[in-house]
Amino acid sequence: MEISLASGIPSASDPEYATISIDGETAGSPVFDDVYFSDAGGYLESEHVFIRGNRLPERLRTGNGTEFVIGETGFGTGRNLLVLMKLLRELREQGGTLPEIHFVTMEKFPLRPEDLKKAQGIFRNLSREAGLFQGCYRIAGSGIQTMVPEPGITVHLIIGDVLDISTALRLSRPVDAWFLDGFSPARNPDMWSLPVMRNLFRLSIPGTTLATYTVSGTVRRNLNAAGFATVKVSGCGRKREMTVGEVP
Ligand SMILES: C[S@@+](CC[C@H](N)C(=O)[O-])C[C@H]1O[C@@H](n2cnc3c(N)ncnc32)[C@H](O)[C@@H]1O
Repeated sequence: MEISLASGIPSASDPEYATISIDGETAGSPVFDDVYFSDAGGYLESEHVFIRGNRLPERLRTGNGTEFVIGETGFGTGRNLLVLMKLLRELREQGGTLPEIHFVTMEKFPLRPEDLKKAQGIFRNLSREAGLFQGCYRIAGSGIQTMVPEPGITVHLIIGDVLDISTALRLSRPVDAWFLDGFSPARNPDMWSLPVMRNLFRLSIPGTTLATYTVSGTVRRNLNAAGFATVKVSGCGRKREMTVGEVP
């Protein structure tokens, strides 16, 4: 898959790194006054919301071509990526040919490598995936950072503001599934705005799915206004409901 950014992304030799606080089994952002994930230590939330919310086990097993593109808003600690890598390993062990995965993720405040290592140390049962990813995690300024943690998956981590990136992003094939994972819409409204949702819709095709932990009315209205059909489904842990959607 070809990936590029049209002009418009402010360039910087050094990105603005995240300030994170690690407290036992959670990682938080003092700046946004929110947590990177809400189920401490484990990863059921990533699996339930993003992996199953996009029906990835079924879709990847049956395959829909030679490439499958996953888009994410908010890379953070990379937990969703590690859980996806774990799913790919399980599917490979069951046999069959998987599509080549392109994980395109947008992040304004990347973690420093030492903070990423500490944060990923929290996740139980993801140490293999964490080790593979930490081995290739390099941030060299703003723009697209390409990393291949293992054969079969390429991570395109794009450093910058989600609106700038999603406006400038050009992909040679559409996104198949979106993980919408900004901080809570009340604390991080820029991640959920209508212009951002319109950009994500432009990068999608009929059948593209999305999943997010939030059921915020504003977020759903923005998604619907952009063209996605959304529905509330049962959530995970303390979150009774979540949102999934599709391009009709
Ligand atoms: C809930 S966290 C993401 C959690 C992540 N998926 C994980 O597995 O750890 C939200 C992320 O959105 C990023 N973010 C906040 N505002 C942003 C913006 N305007 N553009 C791009 N990223 C932004 C934050 O830095 C943070 O990493």
